[in-house]
Amino acid sequence: MRAPLIAGNWKMNGSKRDAQLLFGGVTAGAASLRGVEVAVCPPFPYLALGEAELADGVVRLGAQDVSAESAGAYTGEVAAAMLAEFGCRYVICGHSERREYHAESDTLIARKLQSVIASGMRPILCIGETLEQRECGETEAVIAAQLDGVLQVAGIEVFAALDIAYEPVWAIGTGKTATPEQAQQVHAFVRARIAASDQRIAQGLRILYGGSMKPGNAAELLAQPDIDGGLIGGASLDADDFLAICRAAE
Ligand code: G3H
Repeated sequence: MRAPLIAGNWKMNGSKRDAQLLFGGVTAGAASLRGVEVAVCPPFPYLALGEAELADGVVRLGAQDVSAESAGAYTGEVAAAMLAEFGCRYVICGHSERREYHAESDTLIARKLQSVIASGMRPILCIGETLEQRECGETEAVIAAQLDGVLQVAGIEVFAALDIAYEPVWAIGTGKTATPEQAQQVHAFVRARIAASDQRIAQGLRILYGGSMKPGNAAELLAQPDIDGGLIGGASLDADDFLAICRAAE
């Protein structure tokens, strides 16, 4: 019922040449995949290259961030309509690295979601707790606050037009993955939280897991009933590893 999505977040890595090789490698390998959506999110300067390199394949293009504003004097920002013009289908919003290094609030993130949806693309809303919050038993409270922050600004309807990525901050780039049980518990909590507002939207909501997902642990994570795909950082920089994760989602 929920087609899995595997999205690669390249973050701020690689050269133009690396990007070209990676676009090519992923496109070639993805041609034989069945029943799984695949997307890659390169740094902004490589989007035009991605639009050209991915044109004839099944891999979709995404961006790593977006402005909440539509146009104007916002130096350094990129508007959603601009991303759509370059063929982007997905936009990552509220990644923990944006929340931490750029002080992004739930309110700002909610406005970004609205902007992405208004431009015809699909946001991937990132949520997740820090290690300290988990150890204090605050995981569900943190997740609830992040979801409620979006609900208050943008309403329940936006959850019908986006995907969520649950990314425990302590698992990102650390090699420490949440166990399938830990991840499933939070994913089920997210779905229940949305179901409290709208049961139908909750059932259709795709919830990806992110945080050191690799070929070796992907199948076990993706086998959980509420894990509908992955947002892959480090392992998405290697076409073979990324494609192995995609195959685990088939
Ligand atoms: O957006 C991707 C996540 O931050 C996961 O990164 O796979 O390198 O842990 P990672």
